[in-house]
Amino acid sequence: MVYNIAIDGPAGAGKSTIAKRVAKELSFVYVDTGAMYRAMAYYLLQQNVNGSDPEAIAAVCQGAEISIEYRNGEQIVLLNGENVNAYLRTEEVGNMASVSSANPRVRARLLDLQRGLAASQSVVMDGRDIGTTILPDADVKIYLTASSSTRAGRRYKELLEKGEACNIEEIQKDIEERDRRDMSREVSPLRQAEDAVLVDSSDMSIDEVVSALIKIFHEKTGN
Ligand code: DC
Repeated sequence: MVYNIAIDGPAGAGKSTIAKRVAKELSFVYVDTGAMYRAMAYYLLQQNVNGSDPEAIAAVCQGAEISIEYRNGEQIVLLNGENVNAYLRTEEVGNMASVSSANPRVRARLLDLQRGLAASQSVVMDGRDIGTTILPDADVKIYLTASSSTRAGRRYKELLEKGEACNIEEIQKDIEERDRRDMSREVSPLRQAEDAVLVDSSDMSIDEVVSALIKIFHEKTGN
């Protein structure tokens, strides 16, 4: 029996941390679709594509072959055969991913890959349009969110721990701008699927969110 859990929500809501933990507890595979959009963005930046030129994005994205491998349970994103995991988590790549993921050609290139991964194995897949577009028949759909100030605070702490200089007001502005772009684009905008359960993690610990999701999974599947 293959189960699909879809987790959508805005940037910084904790989707990847939570999805990874839920996948581990249930022995499912964690699929990070944001990393695929980031790999595409990294490719576009390497090719010096201007983010405000949708035609250039549509043309150049055809040259990116993105695939996924799992090594010791970790998702490895391959861009034209090269492991690019180490380059995906910068603000520059994140911002380009937010811009380029609005492009229908970019989305079309990643759709089949994401559906294929969920067809053959039980997955916890996180992103923006998993419950609405990629896996409309997922067994469990979660819309995970938190206030923009909470999300900025978490991101600020993460960057400080990495020793990177940052300004919390700028991070919050960036997050709000990214939300606006992700929610207002024409193709697959970020929104809560009608049958998704809303989880606001602003005042919840990671453990509390993980337990809540596992409980929802058991309730929904009777498993
Ligand atoms: O979750 P993330 O920050 O790694 O995602 C990077 C960008 O990719 C984000 O701005 C929105 C986009 N994205 C998307 O449009 N659809 C997805 N399924 C996942 C990410």
